[in-house]
Amino acid sequence: MKIVMASDHGGYELKEEIKKHLIENGYEIEDIGTHSKESVDYPKYGREAAEIVAAKKADKGIICCGTGIGISLAANKVKGIRCAVVSDTFSAKMSRAHNDANMLSLGGRVVGAGLALEIVDTWLSTEFEGGRHERRVSQIEG
Ligand code: RB5
Repeated sequence: MKIVMASDHGGYELKEEIKKHLIENGYEIEDIGTHSKESVDYPKYGREAAEIVAAKKADKGIICCGTGIGISLAANKVKGIRCAVVSDTFSAKMSRAHNDANMLSLGGRVVGAGLALEIVDTWLSTEFEGGRHERRVSQIEG
């Protein structure tokens, strides 16, 4: 599975932790930046990662900013993207099972690396349940 990753400076360190963990676990990662703690604007990173997922050039996307909120808002502007901001494992599971989230957003100033890796593992290992949820997810796009 190929995963595109992106962050701003507020999510940079968490992105690096998650990237290392995923590479160790056999995932192919495309990291589109940012590549340092220098201040950058998050919308560009969220949008570019989302465009890669929407174009099916990656299977899923994982993005980080300080809260996970700003970068997710930018990602969700791209057609076909369902990006969930998550800071607990229950929501991680449900965002896949019921919402078929194709992107995950985490806050580097909200969750520690230990919890973040559990969230990521839960999110990646949970399948969409389909059924009645398929109908609801299709209504999101209009
Ligand atoms: C950057 O200071 C911060 O605003 C950003 O990382 C993010 O939290 C925005 O939602």
